[in-house]
Amino acid sequence: MKNKTIETKVTIYSFEELDAAKQNLINKAKEQVVKAYAPYSGFHVGAAIELENAEIFAGNNQENSAYPSGLCAERVAMFYANAQYPDVPVKTIAIAAYTNGKFLEQPVTPCGSCRQVLLETEMRFETDINILLYGTNEIYLIENVRQLLPLCFEKSSLK
Ligand code: THU
Repeated sequence: MKNKTIETKVTIYSFEELDAAKQNLINKAKEQVVKAYAPYSGFHVGAAIELENAEIFAGNNQENSAYPSGLCAERVAMFYANAQYPDVPVKTIAIAAYTNGKFLEQPVTPCGSCRQVLLETEMRFETDINILLYGTNEIYLIENVRQLLPLCFEKSSLK
């Protein structure tokens, strides 16, 4: 028997420690929460994506009375960006969540389905996507989606 340990590297920043581009992307994600459609959960999520060509796309969660028909902010933003620029890699995604009258104190972390979708884009362009997870106490920076989804299922798994 052998053990294998898989580690995820997370770098923790305060807002002030981030460069201007990352601060701007977080602000764009935060702006999105007010436009989320989340009448069922009251959990408002915003996501902002910066492409290699400096274009920014943002989105928020869109819920539905038939719950599984709704979609998370990350996938709304990512599908929007990929639909507009199918040939341009994604550089960074920032995510923020707001509930009970305030932004989460600890960084919001994407659900498994969103991680899988983010991974597809990372693999598609063969370029790391930086992930910024916003919390009012601290901000996590994760260097790529692979770190967020170890032992993942990907296109090479189909061979
Ligand atoms: N949600 C997101 O949009 N992104 C996340 O990272 C976590 C969850 C949404 C889905 C649903 O509308 C609400 O938050 C509660 O789960």
